[in-house]
Amino acid sequence: MVRTACSLCVMHCILTLGVSASDNQANFKSTCLSFNPASYVPNATLNRLEYITAGTTLTFADNDPSCNRPSQAVNVDLCRIALSVPTSQQSSFNYELWLPETWNGRTLATGNGGIDGCIKYEDIAYGAANGFSSMYYKPLNTRSSMPFGTGRPAFNSDTFGTNNGHNGTSGATFYENDDVVIDFSWRALHTSVKIGKKLTSLIYHKTLGKSYYIGCSLGGRQGIGNAERFPEDFDGIVAGAPAVDFNSLYSWRASFFPITGDTESPDFISPNTWKTTIHNEVIKQCDSIDGVEDGIIEDPILCHVDTARLLCGYNNSTSTDCLSAAQVGIVKAIFDDYLWPNGTLLYPRVNPGGELLAADGLYSGKPYGPSVDWFKYAILEEPSWDPTTYTRDDALLAVQKNPADIDTWPSSLGAFQGRGGKLLSYHGQQDQQISSLNSVRFWKRLAEEVDYDLDKMDAFYRLFRIPGMNHCAGGPGAWTVGQGGSTPAYNIPFDKDHNVLAAIVDWVEKGVAPDEIVGTKFVGDSVDAGISYQHRHCRYPYRSTYSGSGDPLDIDSWHCVNFGGY
Ligand SMILES: *[C@@H]1O[C@H](CO)[C@@H](O)[C@H](O)[C@H]1NC(C)=O
Ligand SMILES: *[C@@H]1O[C@H](CO)[C@@H](O)[C@H](O)[C@H]1NC(C)=O
Ligand SMILES: *[C@@H]1O[C@H](CO)[C@@H](O)[C@H](O)[C@H]1NC(C)=O
Ligand SMILES: *[C@@H]1O[C@H](CO)[C@@H](O)[C@H](O)[C@H]1NC(C)=O
Ligand SMILES: *[C@@H]1O[C@H](CO)[C@@H](O)[C@H](O)[C@H]1NC(C)=O
Repeated sequence: MVRTACSLCVMHCILTLGVSASDNQANFKSTCLSFNPASYVPNATLNRLEYITAGTTLTFADNDPSCNRPSQAVNVDLCRIALSVPTSQQSSFNYELWLPETWNGRTLATGNGGIDGCIKYEDIAYGAANGFSSMYYKPLNTRSSMPFGTGRPAFNSDTFGTNNGHNGTSGATFYENDDVVIDFSWRALHTSVKIGKKLTSLIYHKTLGKSYYIGCSLGGRQGIGNAERFPEDFDGIVAGAPAVDFNSLYSWRASFFPITGDTESPDFISPNTWKTTIHNEVIKQCDSIDGVEDGIIEDPILCHVDTARLLCGYNNSTSTDCLSAAQVGIVKAIFDDYLWPNGTLLYPRVNPGGELLAADGLYSGKPYGPSVDWFKYAILEEPSWDPTTYTRDDALLAVQKNPADIDTWPSSLGAFQGRGGKLLSYHGQQDQQISSLNSVRFWKRLAEEVDYDLDKMDAFYRLFRIPGMNHCAGGPGAWTVGQGGSTPAYNIPFDKDHNVLAAIVDWVEKGVAPDEIVGTKFVGDSVDAGISYQHRHCRYPYRSTYSGSGDPLDIDSWHCVNFGGY
C-alpha cells in the first residue's frame, strides 16, 4: 500500500501515537497504517507502508534479480516501511524499516555485500524476529549436552537496511557519479541510521534503547567505517570478515586472474586440481599442526605451504598427481603475501584451505566481477577496461584515488572506543574471499596505537577467529554463530555464549564481554539433521588449542590459549 503525503498528517500521527504505544495488535496496526514516515524525511517517497502478520512471506517484485532475494518469510507481527530517500540531486537509496509489534527498545542496522546494492532482507527479518521455533535439535555428539530449541527469547529489535544507493550487484552506476559512490561508501548507512532512529521513536513513542549494527564482508567494512566516521551511530557493532583496506582488497582480488590466466591458457590449473592435488597437499602439510587431523587448519598463521612439494618428481616421487613447474609458480604466487614492488605488504596471503571454494571463484580463470566493476567504474572510469591488464600500478591508483574515502583502514577507533562503543568481529579461517590474516593485521594496527595493551583492546574490540569457516558462513568448522538470517541463526540459543548478536548486546548493556563464542556445526549444515559438534572460538591473540587427548569433537578437548602472537 502506498500512502501519499498529506500536510495534516503530522498532527494526526502524533495524536494517534499518543494513545497507542502498542497496547494491542489493533492499536499497533492502526498506528502503523496511519503513520506518515515520508513527512519526517525530507523529499522521501513512500514505497510501502504495511502491517505484516507473522507467517507472511513477502515478495519483492521490484528487487533487482541479481540480488537473488525474491522473497522473505517474516516471523513476527511488524510494521513495514519502505522509502526512497534522495541523498543528492543525482543519487538516492531504497530503505526498509521493519518495526516489530513487540519491541525490545533496540535498533539494529544491517549491511550489504560485495559492491552490491542489495538489501539483506534475511538480516532485517532476523533482527525483527520473535521467539522462534519449538523444534528440538538433538546433539549427535552426546558429550555436548546443551538444551536446544525450547522457545528461546528473541531479539525483537526494530531493524532496517538499505540498498546502499544502487540496485543489484553491478557497479555500473558508480560511473561518473560520485554521489552514488559516496552513498555506497558511507552515506546510505549513516543517513538510514538517522532516519531509523527518528521514525522508531516517533512510531513507538518511547525512548530509544541501544543501537546496533550487524554485517559481514562489505557489511563488516561498513560497520567499522561507521565506527570511524560516526562513532555516535552505534553502541555495538558486529563486523564479520570485514572488507577493510577496501581498495587493496579489491586489487588483491583483481590480481588472481592475471596469475591464473584464463581457462584456455596452457598452464591453467583446473578447479578439480585445486580441490584435490593442491588441497590435499595443503592439508598434508598443515592439518596436523594443531594436533588433530580433521581437515581443519585451526590457525592459518602457522600454515606456510611449501608449494615446491607439488612439483612432479619432487623427492623422487613417481606420482602423476602433481604440477608442472609453471603451475607450481602460479600456486606460489597465489599463496604468497601480495607485495608492492618495493617489497612492503599490499595485502596478506590467502587462507590455506580456502582453495576448495576459491577454485570456482578467485582462481577460476575468470575475472572477478566485483573487482572488475570497481576498477572500471570507480577507479579508472574506463568501462572498456580489460582485466587481463591489471597491474600494481592500478593498485597504487586505487589507493591514491580512494573514492569517497572508502578505504576503511583507520589506525585508531578512539572516538568510538572513548564513548563506550563495542566492536565484535569474527572471521572464518578458511575464508575464500577475504583473507582472515587481514583481520589479524587490522587488530594489530589498532593494538599498536595502545602499545599492544591487551586489556585496552579487549575493552572495546574483540576479534573471533573461526576455524573451518568460509566467507561469512559455511565450511567444515563449527561456523554457526548467529551471524545472520540466512544462516541457522534461529536454531542456536540466543545467548552470549552462542550468538554474536546476543553477545554484543550483553557486552553493551551489561558490560559482560564475550571471551569465547561457541560455534555450532549442524550435520551436513542441515538443521533438521541435528548438531554434529560444537567448538569454542577464541578471540585474538588466543588460539584454539587441542588438549592432546580426548575426542576432538568434544568441546572440552579444546581451550583458548594466549600465544602472544604479536
Ligand atoms: C528537497 O528537494 C528540493 C527540490 O528538489 C531541494 O531543493 C532540496 O535541497 C531537497 N532537500 C533535501 C534535504 O534533499
Ligand atoms: C533503484 O531502483 C529504484 C526502483 O526500485 C529506482 O527508483 C532507483 O532510481 C534505482 N536506483 C538506481 C541508482 O538506479
Ligand atoms: C621423501 O621421500 C621419503 C621416502 O619415500 C619419505 O620418507 C619422505 O617423507 C619424503 N619427504 C617429503 C617431504 O615428502
Ligand atoms: C633421488 O634419487 C636419486 C637417484 O636415485 C638419489 O641420488 C637421490 O638421493 C634421491 N633423492 C631423494 C630426496 O630421495
Ligand atoms: C612501498 O610502496 C608503497 C606503494 O607505493 C608505499 O605506500 C609504501 O610507503 C612504500 N614503502 C616503503 C618502505 O617505501
